[in-house]
Amino acid sequence: MLTIGEVLTALAVFLFVTQFLKLQRLRRRLPPGPIPFPVFGTVIQLNFQFNRDLLMKLAKVHGNIFTLWFGWAPVIILNGYQAVKDGMTMHPEDVSGRLVSPFFRAMAKGKGIMLATGHTWKQQRRFALRTLRTLGLGKRGLEHRVQEEARYLVDFFASVKGKPLDPSFPLVHSVSNVICAVVFGHRFSRDDETFHEVIRAMERLFKFGGSFFHHLYEIFPWLMCRLPGPHKKVLSCYDVLSSFTRREISMHTERGTPDEPQDFIDFYLDHIEKSKDEPRSTYNEDNMVYSINDLFLGGSETTSTTLNWGLLYMVANPDIQEKVQMELDAVLGRSQLICYEDRRELPYTNAVVHEIQRFSNIISVGMPRVCVRNTILLGFPLKKGTIVFPNIASSLYDPEQWEAPRQFNPGHFLDKDGNFVSQQAFLPFSIGHRVCLGEHLARTELFIFFANLLRAFTFQLPEGATKINTEPMQGGTLQPHPYRICAIPR
Ligand code: HEM
Repeated sequence: MLTIGEVLTALAVFLFVTQFLKLQRLRRRLPPGPIPFPVFGTVIQLNFQFNRDLLMKLAKVHGNIFTLWFGWAPVIILNGYQAVKDGMTMHPEDVSGRLVSPFFRAMAKGKGIMLATGHTWKQQRRFALRTLRTLGLGKRGLEHRVQEEARYLVDFFASVKGKPLDPSFPLVHSVSNVICAVVFGHRFSRDDETFHEVIRAMERLFKFGGSFFHHLYEIFPWLMCRLPGPHKKVLSCYDVLSSFTRREISMHTERGTPDEPQDFIDFYLDHIEKSKDEPRSTYNEDNMVYSINDLFLGGSETTSTTLNWGLLYMVANPDIQEKVQMELDAVLGRSQLICYEDRRELPYTNAVVHEIQRFSNIISVGMPRVCVRNTILLGFPLKKGTIVFPNIASSLYDPEQWEAPRQFNPGHFLDKDGNFVSQQAFLPFSIGHRVCLGEHLARTELFIFFANLLRAFTFQLPEGATKINTEPMQGGTLQPHPYRICAIPR
């Protein structure tokens, strides 16, 4: 007679074997990859890790399209420029869904742009792009806002008089103010406590990404949403951002929509009114709040972190910093307003800005997509709902595309005569239907902020400091470790 223990063990072994065999059957038609096990998928073999270097190492074994398993879910990884580009552009509509994991669902409820899919995403994205264009994205209008913020930033650095400072907060303050100008129609002063609180809330949200508690929430959402902990604090940070946005919307509704809409909120309120009789309209206050939050979350930390890396690389490479300054001095006057168009006359500076973005690779492996219908991805049939990861780092560091991918070298964007050359594998904003919505604004900001700072200051380590740490910290974006530098007026 078998004991209860023996029966349970036999049942567990039986279940394990049948589920294991089922997984092996499921993986037969998918791209190759490590062997998955029931419940855990492939996470145990990979030591619960998921980062750019691990994915690039796995591609050497399994090829440029391979499958990992998060529990029962297959995740298709695209590796290297060619696979990322072909995978995202051959059937771009099919891979335009967004993976909304339990934590992100708790945060944004599938609304807005970045964490929405299907009809809502299409309407909100199209509206945001159109409105940004009307407000001057790609034209001089928005550029003035960037130039204005660059001036405030230079004035602030000058006020520190060459003493050591951590540039991260002034940078994120300036970049966020550009979004404020676009969305709210005004900026916030450096002493505004509410704005500081919003910036700190966004920083906490980014730091939480990829942390231990974040993983726990994704695996056990039903448990974690009932327990206290850092995840609750971070969800309340998102509420700080939403309340801030709602307050600005109320101020707009109180004063009424002007005849000529002036900012994103004006345009959105106007559009809610115009589309109120359309049965499939997704234009409402909630989607407005979440779309605005997405512009902040997508547009603040990313651009400011890239600039933060840029200053650090200049301190680490004083010869490159000097060459940029020589070019700026030769081409521009000391007080001339710097425009985005000036990059054409400043090939070296332009190349350095591109190399900062390539080398810092702040988005790391990129944002996951989801197949919105059954499709064929690089020859493999995938079911609707399958997760696809276009590994952006693998394109920015692709050894077949870059001469020395693991070195900071502006030469990657210069020909032998010193002319600027674009590179097809330069995909920091991703590619395909969900390519970054703020790409043009980000490029304009990076160039104008960077050129203004380097024209006004030489960046160097504080006296006595010798170590420069250029290793990234993991989080929602790859950030430099906190550092202090001196901005010496030139
Ligand atoms: C250096 C700066 C930036 C980088 C590196 C960056 C990169 C990216 C990447 C890789 C994606 C994911 C695309 C995909 O799913 O394949 C993305 C999405 C997005 N970005 Fe950016 N971004 C930057 C700046 C901005 C700015 C300034 C804005 C706002 C004006 C912005 C708004 C967004 C939005 C709303 C999305 C979601 C698009 C969608 O899901 O359809 N980003 N960005």
